[in-house]
Amino acid sequence: MQHILINKRRIILMLFLAFSMTGLFAQKKNVIHPGEVWPDKDGEHIQAHGGAIFKIKNTYYWYGTERSKELDPDSRYVACYSSKDLMNWKNRGIVFQMSNPDTLANNWVLERPKVFYNQKTKKYVMYFHVDVNYKLAQVGIAVSDKATGPFKYVRRFHPLGYESRDIGQFIDEDGKAYLIFEDRPSGGFRIAKLTEDFMDVEKNMSLVKARIEGGTIVKNDGLYYCLGSGLTGWNPNPNQYATATSLEGPWSEFKNIAPPEVNTYSSQSTFLLKIIGSEKTSVIFMGDIWKPDAQWDSRYLWMPMEIGDGKLWLPEPAPWTINVKTGETKILK
Ligand code: DGJ
Repeated sequence: MQHILINKRRIILMLFLAFSMTGLFAQKKNVIHPGEVWPDKDGEHIQAHGGAIFKIKNTYYWYGTERSKELDPDSRYVACYSSKDLMNWKNRGIVFQMSNPDTLANNWVLERPKVFYNQKTKKYVMYFHVDVNYKLAQVGIAVSDKATGPFKYVRRFHPLGYESRDIGQFIDEDGKAYLIFEDRPSGGFRIAKLTEDFMDVEKNMSLVKARIEGGTIVKNDGLYYCLGSGLTGWNPNPNQYATATSLEGPWSEFKNIAPPEVNTYSSQSTFLLKIIGSEKTSVIFMGDIWKPDAQWDSRYLWMPMEIGDGKLWLPEPAPWTINVKTGETKILK
């Protein structure tokens, strides 16, 4: 009898260990830890680098490049994750996989994917930076009927005929969509309006004469804040912002978002996420902490920003939490 009991206990213990290892007992997270490994619901570090987020109904979708070690090196990958609270993310898989689009050299890159949802066509339109040795400088487009893909490659081109390296996305309060792209020969970055179906870039709004990449924009209390990093490759630098009352400018001088010596706490901007809650509107800085020689282990630095009266500031990273319903964030120091 005692024998059976011990065996029963052993089996329960073994089952418990097996479940814990497969993540079935994975703990719900209620804190974001900037710079640390960020496990998804399966316990794997999130692979959504150089990414951005949008919300449909009450679900947030986070897209970025998937850079896991074991992937086929001849293809490039975009992954999608979904969440209802911005803290616990479910891996929705690789939503776009592309092998060499046509005649590009083997070392071609696909970076900084950004997805726009078009209410009229009901299509999800992905823009991404496609390049070879960072000299081709084009954007690519892929389209899907669902947020979770599969996305189908459409074409690659120079938006409005200009070179385009890092890209960013912005959707204004009126639903109009804009591509932000770095145009090095013109000495700055452009903000350009997309066509109604989002399948093309139709109008230049601004050429912001600043050597900025990783560009992103948020609108807060009627003022546009654009933010980006300097041009130092994968190495961090002091990210800066400027403001304007119209996307056509004029844009203010650029100012630092953090003490310059901390180099944006070793991160680089990729997106500004605005959460409009019942109590508060919060703006979250999303940055990448790149590990150029171990890209799969690159980390994320997300922090709620101080914003208002034309000022934008990134607080020192610390664990924090958010209530997406109220929009309130709390830095746990
Ligand atoms: C900086 C860009 O922001 C990244 O997206 C990437 O293109 C690196 N340069 C490559 O060095």
